[in-house]
Amino acid sequence: MTLTFNKESFRGDYSYHNSPAAIRRFPFPFDRDEYMYSVNMEPHKGGRDGSVFQRRFDVDEHYVAEMEDRAITLARDPMRCQSLPHMRLAGWDLLELIMVSKSEDYPDLFQLTRDGDRWRWVNKPLGIDDTFTFLDDATLPHGPMEYITRQTQGDFAVLDQREGNLWMDAGMITSQADWSLDFDIGMNFFEWHAPVPRAAEMGIFQRALKFLMNVQVDTPARRLNWTMTVNPRLDTSPETYPEWGPEKRSLTPDNIGEKQYLRVELQTFWRLPRSNGLAFPIRCYLCSLQDIVTVPKWGRRLHRVIRDLPDDLATYKGFLVNKPLIVDYLARFDDGAPTSPGI
Ligand code: HEM
Repeated sequence: MTLTFNKESFRGDYSYHNSPAAIRRFPFPFDRDEYMYSVNMEPHKGGRDGSVFQRRFDVDEHYVAEMEDRAITLARDPMRCQSLPHMRLAGWDLLELIMVSKSEDYPDLFQLTRDGDRWRWVNKPLGIDDTFTFLDDATLPHGPMEYITRQTQGDFAVLDQREGNLWMDAGMITSQADWSLDFDIGMNFFEWHAPVPRAAEMGIFQRALKFLMNVQVDTPARRLNWTMTVNPRLDTSPETYPEWGPEKRSLTPDNIGEKQYLRVELQTFWRLPRSNGLAFPIRCYLCSLQDIVTVPKWGRRLHRVIRDLPDDLATYKGFLVNKPLIVDYLARFDDGAPTSPGI
């Protein structure tokens, strides 16, 4: 496989862009003309060739720029990466999972050589060639979770499973949709989900937790979630709200197609073998409205979903203020034709 990595930024001049191929593989999340929360989970066992589901940890044209953006965020705020002391083993589990998966799925980009507990890891796109001792923290420049997630697209929450619950006891969170690891660290599944409207009353979190506690090694699961972001910005955290919050007011009918992004999260769930922890990668894909509408059935459907989305969900997702502008823009791409279920 040949991948060319974009020179681009997720802040400042926002030079982030999607190639035509990246638009075609964007994980458009709506399989019908309306949206409501649900326990939308399925096995993560591959997908169509070229799709974002095909490989265990998708690597795309944004890889190098995303890793640069993560390094900037961490330099400004080291608390985006935290691991409570009992999560050390889970960090090594995660490192192994990612190194094995990426070296098998992208052998031209990543190589892992193991000689007992002496491991050599080569990451060609980032120019890394390190040798270390598995399970010996002193042989890596960072803790194992931080080391590998500085080289892997997407945020990572690493959960401890105990007392019939999941606990957010470690994570690398630099591209989140307005929630804070520093606030949530040490919380359980129901506590960190408390701000979400409707879902608790619908019984979604009880059912989701039951499902997650039973995820087994080698049978990962996945789901999609989505929101809206003004400008292609990965770091939309509460900590930096003063930087990106005001940008929500910069939309006009003339610039909305270019500046308003649909933000889709591919969330996967992995049981970790030694620690029995659960890894929760949250991979973020950004696509501008003007690129979305190049696929007519997406433009048509997105119009209907946003138009009919209840205000409490639009408020929680942070775009109620721009909903009328978004609906007006998208209405131009909805010819009223009937759609069929499925993406
Ligand atoms: C939102 C974490 C699994 C459903 C959130 C938020 C966090 C989070 C931090 C933001 C809450 C806030 O506003 O502060 C996690 C973690 C999971 C997990 C670490 C894995 C262990 C799930 C599952 C489901 C789910 C399995 C449902 C099947 C939701 C929903 C929202 C949410 C519906 C609101 C999202 C939106 O409207 O944009 N989750 N979650 N989560 N989560 Fe989860």
